[in-house]
Amino acid sequence: MTDSKMIYEKVNNCVAAIRKVTDFKPRVAITLGSGLGNYADQIDIKCEVSYSDIPGFPVSTVPGHAGKFIFGYVGDVPVVCMKGRVHFYEGYDITDVVLPARVMRQLGAEILFLTNAAGGVNYNFNAGELMLITDHIAVFVRNPLIGPNVEEFGTRFPDMSEVYDKELRDIIYNTAVENKIPLKMGVYTQLTGPSFESPAEIKMLRTLGTDAVGMSTVVEAIAARHMGMRVCGVSCISNMAAGMLAEPLSHEDVQKAADIVGPMFEKLVTECVKKF
Ligand code: HPA
Repeated sequence: MTDSKMIYEKVNNCVAAIRKVTDFKPRVAITLGSGLGNYADQIDIKCEVSYSDIPGFPVSTVPGHAGKFIFGYVGDVPVVCMKGRVHFYEGYDITDVVLPARVMRQLGAEILFLTNAAGGVNYNFNAGELMLITDHIAVFVRNPLIGPNVEEFGTRFPDMSEVYDKELRDIIYNTAVENKIPLKMGVYTQLTGPSFESPAEIKMLRTLGTDAVGMSTVVEAIAARHMGMRVCGVSCISNMAAGMLAEPLSHEDVQKAADIVGPMFEKLVTECVKKF
């Protein structure tokens, strides 16, 4: 079997395992990052499927990231939420990191709403703010499309000139204004992690046009665009990046800061999804 056939079949096997449990057809897929840990409360839940019940599905090793799919409605919109995701730094193959996004596409999702916690690189940002992702820098991570192209998913050389859908971005921006939720905008750069960046790396990233830095999201966005999904994303600026403040960074502090922003983040996602 070729690599591309293996990737295709692995995705389809996951879809088949989920289809044994539910025939729910989501329109919007939401990947819940730090800060949206309680987002299930916003959903009229119809069904849940633990990742560990899906053969071959990558399961996170990070504390606080234990995972399941949640199927249900936000307003009238059928959604699938990923509570927990795997990261490249956990040692997974990059094709496994993007497998969940591909599975959600194959389940019927047309839109992928990506959320994460990120370090603020732009000096105009503050910890505790939200940032609408306008574009990304992907060159520091392995491209998830490396290897034989899976033709069933998309073309060999997919266009990335507007990864983050303009119409969805406008909805998110206007919804933030309507609800008086402060929202910055900027370019998100994914690094592999798991170590946080050095101050010199942050200075480099800022010079390159980065506004926020994190360890997820970009590879999922690329895989989703490859499959023709419309993509949008919001980062919770959980901390200012290394070297910008006096104190060192810790995962616990990132988690705590993201939790404080949680209710505002939940409100923004909910009000946006209702309009998608
Ligand atoms: N760097 C990388 N990833 C992160 C950060 C950071 O400062 N904060 C939250 N995720």
